[in-house]
Amino acid sequence: MIFTVAIDGPAAAGKGTISRAVAAEFGFAHLDTGLLYRAVGAKGGDPIVAARTLSPADLARDDLRSMAAGQAASRVAVIAQVRAALVDFQRRFARADGGAVLDGRDIGTVICPEAEVKLYVTASAEVRAHRRWLEVGGDEAQVLAEVIERDARDMTRADAPLRPAADAKIIDTSTLSIADAIGQAIAIIRAAL
Ligand code: CDP
Repeated sequence: MIFTVAIDGPAAAGKGTISRAVAAEFGFAHLDTGLLYRAVGAKGGDPIVAARTLSPADLARDDLRSMAAGQAASRVAVIAQVRAALVDFQRRFARADGGAVLDGRDIGTVICPEAEVKLYVTASAEVRAHRRWLEVGGDEAQVLAEVIERDARDMTRADAPLRPAADAKIIDTSTLSIADAIGQAIAIIRAAL
């Protein structure tokens, strides 16, 4: 069975948590596409070369979850040739037999516009920054400033900007528990299956 769940949204909205839960519920494969951009940013050197030569070892680095890696990711993610180098892998993953969940910024709009389910997971910037601060620590005001800066870069870039697909279902997790957010996503997918 070919069945793609595209989950897009801004930083720290809960995409990863929802994606993992949905993949486990339905037995689908899961790809965190942000990790690809984080690995390209962290590799250093020419980002276009880094994207074209990305290896499993690059994706296994233990420093990819940091705020710095997130900023580096969003800076290389504006480069059209970087995005182009990562398209085929993501498309193959999305349409492989057995069902797939991909989370990112452009899955429903660019990578897999034919996805059977498109979710746009969002929350207020303050709520998202608070969640990220609980993960990474440091100065919460600084975390908020970086989240806002990264969202602005992701939403205004020329190539594959972050925005909900016209047919995406919006899940605002600002006031939802994790269980309720996952429950909403599962109900939408179950109805489409
Ligand atoms: O986990 P978080 O939501 O903070 O970020 P992420 O999903 O790991 O993405 C890191 C950065 O990679 C984003 O800010 C985007 O600039 C870029 N990205 C992208 O451009 N397209 C994607 N499909 C996924 C991530």
